[in-house]
Amino acid sequence: MENKERIAIYPGSFDPLTNGHVDIIERGLKIFDKVIIAVLYNPAKTALFSVDERLDMIRKSFSSHSNQSSIIIDSFGGLLVDYARQKNAVAIIRGMRAISDFESEFQMALMNRRLSRDVQTIFLMTGLRWIFISSSIIKEVARFGGDISGMAPHPVKCKMKEKFPLLNEK
Ligand code: COA
Repeated sequence: MENKERIAIYPGSFDPLTNGHVDIIERGLKIFDKVIIAVLYNPAKTALFSVDERLDMIRKSFSSHSNQSSIIIDSFGGLLVDYARQKNAVAIIRGMRAISDFESEFQMALMNRRLSRDVQTIFLMTGLRWIFISSSIIKEVARFGGDISGMAPHPVKCKMKEKFPLLNEK
């Protein structure tokens, strides 16, 4: 029987999840029946949080979401297009913050298309208020005790406090 659900994958490092990511997920949920938030397991990249910690923060951040049944939280390794095929996804969602994102995103989308014709890359514009946010910038602010409220979900802020003691003074 044909799978009628429109499943999209939102892949990334999510080290950690930011409100910019949440904004893209919310937009994706308006278009697709299910959105899989897929944390890339990438041993080649040094991360602050383990994949399990990242998954846990994402789960907690969406634990009381009104559309919870449409959100799947998972991790993957290897090629994204293989994972997409395995999950019967019709689309890969990517967030576009500024022109600077375009070049690498364009390259990635074209490579993914070359690798698989079964999945389309969909670019969603991040809300203007999140355009300057990235996981790295939030980590840098937190490392030196800067307040990250309003830039990342509360469970992320709590977990950051474990890593960066200076944040506890806020
Ligand atoms: N709001 C806030 N920040 C955002 C954002 C948004 N809407 N969209 C992206 N970002 C930030 C991320 O926080 C991250 O910040 P950082 O560099 O400070 O950590 C940065 O932009 C990169 O985003 P991310 O989505 O995490 O990219 P990535 O390069 O880590 O992962 C994958 C991209 C997972 C899609 C890609 O590496 C992949 O598919 N890998 C699997 C292997 C594969 O198939 N390769 C071939 C594909 S060409």
